[in-house]
Amino acid sequence: MARKLTPEEQPWCLDRVTKQVLINKGLENVCMDKSTICFIDGFHSKLYYRGYSIEDLARNSTYEEVVYLILHDKLPTKRELSDFSGWMREERDIPGQVVELLRKIPKDIEPMEILRTAVSYLGNLDPGRYDMSRDGMYRKTIRLISKMPSIVAYWHRIKNGLDLVEPDPRLSHAENFLYMLHGKRQEELLNRAMDVSMILYAEHEMNASAFTAVVIASTLSDYYSAIVGAIGALRGPLHGYANVEAMRQFDEIGSPENVDSWYRENILTGKKRVMGAGHRVYKSYDPRAKIFREYAKIFAEKYGGKVKNYYDIAYRLETLVMAQLCEPKNICTNCDFWAGICYYAMGIPIDLYCAVFAAARTVGWSAHIIEYTADNRILRPRLYYDGEVDKEFVPIDRR
Ligand SMILES: CC(C)(COP(=O)(O)OP(=O)(O)OC[C@H]1O[C@@H](n2cnc3c(N)ncnc32)[C@H](O)[C@@H]1OP(=O)(O)O)[C@@H](O)C(=O)NCCC(=O)NCCS
Repeated sequence: MARKLTPEEQPWCLDRVTKQVLINKGLENVCMDKSTICFIDGFHSKLYYRGYSIEDLARNSTYEEVVYLILHDKLPTKRELSDFSGWMREERDIPGQVVELLRKIPKDIEPMEILRTAVSYLGNLDPGRYDMSRDGMYRKTIRLISKMPSIVAYWHRIKNGLDLVEPDPRLSHAENFLYMLHGKRQEELLNRAMDVSMILYAEHEMNASAFTAVVIASTLSDYYSAIVGAIGALRGPLHGYANVEAMRQFDEIGSPENVDSWYRENILTGKKRVMGAGHRVYKSYDPRAKIFREYAKIFAEKYGGKVKNYYDIAYRLETLVMAQLCEPKNICTNCDFWAGICYYAMGIPIDLYCAVFAAARTVGWSAHIIEYTADNRILRPRLYYDGEVDKEFVPIDRR
């Protein structure tokens, strides 16, 4: 006789104290391991990488230094940073086979899919791809972090029929990326803003993409598969792609005067969500959004035109979100709300924004893979079975 299971028959799903079925939908507030990489205090707008506040890092550090910090759990000396940056500069080239592959891919493919394919192919070409030792993964991490911006820049130029620009070893990571993208060096303010954006995007604890990476690595699969999986997870509009969707939302709104009516028609009716707002962990203002917003303001004042229009739309929309969604639901704007306006001011096409995010985030994914697999246990949650068991199997000709 078909029957449903009682909760007592699935004791792993019961709360130890109340003995009620406990389902953490979306794995909310589930703590899966210890870590020393990142701490988010979502109630007090605080974010730390290895104990250093994001404000201090954004103000005083560089992306290369932050990468070193995240991977080594200490700030580098001058000598260490110079050697480390030198290593990153040497690794920026991408193999000719990958460039050939990029040339063959149809031009309408979305940049995150390009990144996913190119990283997977880089793995195919790496003779040490199965090496899951700490040193092996560390070396792969440096290589991949260094090459990701080159892939994004090459794709942009190939797609637009432009000549490829070789990496310039005299330039910093951020500066070189903008140089390879645009074919000429950019002004200091833009280079610094790109550097800061990469710092802000470098790491963010056990979010969906980091979790995907760690799940894959925990099966002792391989480093590249883990990163490819993470790129796939980041690509969703509820995660990293929100920085693209936020810009499309500003485009749909069109002008600051339309914000209120758009909000009434789409948000108050529940037809849409504000893209670049809300967060599983932040129940207060995202500290990264504050820094991106400061840069967006500087760019709006300096460049005017479309940048200012985006800024003015965003400013009004944020005012509505903070007044109407922050109090009842703890929904504030997040970093993806403001990041795109900064990238737009840097002349980067909107569809590339999530790929820039991914290039910066590879260090965080890698740090979690390395940390978790050092004391590995395969990740394997359970589900509460809500169906029936002992159903009668009816032969096909009698159904
Ligand atoms: C980030 C996000 C996926 C977190 O989701 P979550 O923690 O699972 O939160 P939920 O989807 O359960 O939402 C909780 C409530 O807030 C509302 N909400 C969440 N984000 C919202 C948004 N951006 N705009 C409007 N309402 C939102 C939901 O409708 C829900 O309301 P309800 O309780 O009345 O049903 C979600 O906030 C979102 O979709 N944001 C937009 C995409 C985005 O910016 N992503 C980047 C995150 S850095």
